[in-house]
Amino acid sequence: MTKKKHKKIRKVIFPVGGLGTRFLPATKSMPKEMLPVVDKPLIHYAFEEAHAAGIEEFIFVTGRNKGAIADHFDYSYELQDILSNKNKKRELKVTTEWIPEAGNIIFTRQRQPLGLGHAVWCARNLIGDEPFAVILADDLVLSKKACLKQMVEQYEDCGGNILGVMDIPKSDTEKYGIVDIDSKFSNSDAKLVKARGLVEKPAPEKAPSTLSIIGRYILQPEVMDILAKQKAGAGGEIQLTDAIATMIGRSDVFGYRYDGVRYDCGGLTGFVAANVAFALEREDVRGRLINQLVGVFDRAGVK
Ligand code: G1P
Repeated sequence: MTKKKHKKIRKVIFPVGGLGTRFLPATKSMPKEMLPVVDKPLIHYAFEEAHAAGIEEFIFVTGRNKGAIADHFDYSYELQDILSNKNKKRELKVTTEWIPEAGNIIFTRQRQPLGLGHAVWCARNLIGDEPFAVILADDLVLSKKACLKQMVEQYEDCGGNILGVMDIPKSDTEKYGIVDIDSKFSNSDAKLVKARGLVEKPAPEKAPSTLSIIGRYILQPEVMDILAKQKAGAGGEIQLTDAIATMIGRSDVFGYRYDGVRYDCGGLTGFVAANVAFALEREDVRGRLINQLVGVFDRAGVK
């Protein structure tokens, strides 16, 4: 039997309209997606992950005061000129080499902060009639193989809609979208599970499981039609989770336990922990950082 060929995932949406109030005053005049983990902005990691997954078109749904993101993905003539005159090859490479071809980076504005579902819907005309990915730059995944690439490979096998998921403590369910697992399809601890429902940010006593959605999605274009009519849900916002839940029954919705560690950079401790974890991955930083951290922990009385 020949395997059914699923339409290639060529486009990604980066919803980057959020205000980043948890990081004030740092985000007063700078987009939260530009906060650096070691020496790269969060949005740059999201871009690299999408690129590694074979994505060709990068769609940013922005808001006001997000100009620095567009500048980051553009040439910077003055800087490039200075670096090349000084023969700073490494610096020049990390500044420009990765910038995609003109026309493959697209920006549109959300205008009003009505929720993640609304942000994704704002990109409907740019998506058209093909499946697409969504990456939330706040969720940074440290993994050998890019998280979205793992999901794309899974998608090539099963099609449908795929959500990156991870197990969390029960007390944290009200921070995330939670999967109601269809136990007829697989064991609830399988790598790939099927959803029979999704709930956005349920209280622990109401949560159908402790399997949470992280900011990685592969979605069928039909979700845009549902989003067009989607009423506000949890937190008074138009929720992507609710629209995906509506698709269940019409098309498959899977949760995929990717290999890797997710750092929730939407909060202070996750962001600081990500900085340490990603810095420790760097050969040029690791040794010196460990020495300094030992000193830091010592002085702070951490055993
Ligand atoms: C969003 C989604 C939620 C998901 C989370 C992952 O929430 O609505 O379902 O679990 O991202 O980070 P937000 O973090 O925008 O509140």
